[in-house]
Parts: sequence; structure tokens; C-alpha cells
Amino acid sequence: MSTDSVNPNRRRFLNWTAGVVGAVGVGYAAVPFIRSMSPSAAVMAEATTTVDLSKVDKGQRITVMWQGKPVWVVRRTDEMLETLEDPEVTDQLKDPDSEKSEQPEFAANEYRSREPEWLVMIAICTHLGCIPSYNPESGGDFWSGAWKGGFFCPCHGSGYDLAGRVMEGSPAPRNMEVPYYEFLSDSELRIGEPMG
Ligand code: FES
Repeated sequence: MSTDSVNPNRRRFLNWTAGVVGAVGVGYAAVPFIRSMSPSAAVMAEATTTVDLSKVDKGQRITVMWQGKPVWVVRRTDEMLETLEDPEVTDQLKDPDSEKSEQPEFAANEYRSREPEWLVMIAICTHLGCIPSYNPESGGDFWSGAWKGGFFCPCHGSGYDLAGRVMEGSPAPRNMEVPYYEFLSDSELRIGEPMG
């Protein structure tokens, strides 16, 4: 079977598992290193995940593992950011101001992030926990309303915009969750709150 004939849902699943396997591999490689740390440094390392942002291109989404959960880091373009204020998008949102959603205080804005360019979000649909796909392009025949890019959960058809805000008509009740994170430098991000 050629790669082109693979079912799109299966291809998305394979892409996702490949990314997670890579991230898990890094986690296993880190175990001997963590064992050699002092107890407080080891606790901090396990509670947090550090991400190298230097290799993430504009428009790209990467998946990393944090505390056993997949987390997306998306580098949004100016065009992607413009969609977040587009009335064709905002008129479809259940909770445009993220008042009923889980996110740190710093992400309670229309970008749902510290820096507009970077979206960091737990990659789990708030309906029943499937992993949505990344569909950053406008259009497509999988969504009945205006689609300007976002995330689509194929399990029961929930749509989210490019800030993870859920759209009306979705079974998902809330926007996707944003974890605590900090930028350590222009090219390094740490997900999770350091302990100790
Ligand atoms: Fe995503 Fe049901 S789990 S729509």
C-alpha cells in the first residue's frame, strides 16, 4: 500500500504515535541522568519538561510529553493569530474569553498564552479525552461552520480554534487546558512548575 492511500485518520494516528514514541524515548534516556541528581533536582526534573524551541518553524506544531500527558507547542504565524479575532471564528466559540476553562492567569487572554506566537496546550479533547488533529489551514469539509484553522477531534466531532477555544456545536464542554509554563530563554521553554 502506498503512503498516499493510507486513511487520513490512520495517518494522523501514526504521526502522533511516532512523535510520542520519540518523546518517550527521550524520557527513558533521561532516567539514569535523573538518578544521578540530588533528590530535589530529580523531583524538579520529573515535574517539568524542557523544550528546545529553536527547531520549531513558524506554523509548526510539535508534541512533547509532560507528566505522562501529550502537550502541543505550536508556533503561530501572524496569519494564524489574526484568525483569533476574526468574527467568523469568535462568533462560533462557546467560551471566547476562557472564563470557564483551565489555564494559568497569564493565559487568560485571547491568545491563551504568555507570548502570542507560542501556544502551549495539553493535547487532550475536553469531551472524552481523544487526541485532536492539527488542521491549521482554512476550509476543509470536516466542519460545518467557517473553519479558519484549528484542532479537530475526530472521535465525536469537536472543533477548536488556533487558541484551543471550543466551537459551538461541539460535544466538548470547555476550551483545551493550558498548563503552567515559563520561557527560560528565547529558545527554551519549561512546562510545569518547579518543585522544591
Ligand atoms: Fe473529542 Fe469526543 S473525545 S469529541
